[in-house]
Amino acid sequence: MFRTTFVLTCITFLIVFPTSSSMSQDADAGQLLFNNACRTCHSVKEGDNRLGPNLYKVLGRKAGSLPNYGYSDAMRSADFVWDKEKLDRFITDPDAVVTGNKMKPYGGLASADDRAKVIGFLEAQR
Ligand code: HEC
Repeated sequence: MFRTTFVLTCITFLIVFPTSSSMSQDADAGQLLFNNACRTCHSVKEGDNRLGPNLYKVLGRKAGSLPNYGYSDAMRSADFVWDKEKLDRFITDPDAVVTGNKMKPYGGLASADDRAKVIGFLEAQR
């Protein structure tokens, strides 16, 4: 029973995901990519910290600066403000930007196009 449900869920996902993303605008694609790559750990609602800190208005925020989230020492002492370029490098390879951060397990978004869409989505959360 569980196995059947699982297989059906996978099939539904395979059918629904490519169809809806090809039919939508970049904004919707950004939302879908965010849902798939980030939402397990992040919310974009103000104050809603999960495994990762909330990403509401993350562009323009100083890295590691939310008061109610327990960052790694590496992130808390990172001395920069999130802009598009930093975010792009971070979601390609987090350790290349903040060595020793605890955003794990995270495989990285290899496609520059996908990263731009996720960043566009985050930019709109304000
Ligand atoms: C496996 C869970 C997980 C996934 C998936 C994940 N993150 Fe994270 N993220 C974290 C954790 C945990 C931290 C805190 C890192 C630290 O303190 O070192 C973090 C930190 C961040 C920060 C720093 C925020 C701040 O307040 O300085 C950004 C930006 C970020 N993540 C963006 C993303 C984006 C965009 C994605 C999807 C492309 C993503 N993350 C996917 C867990 C995750």
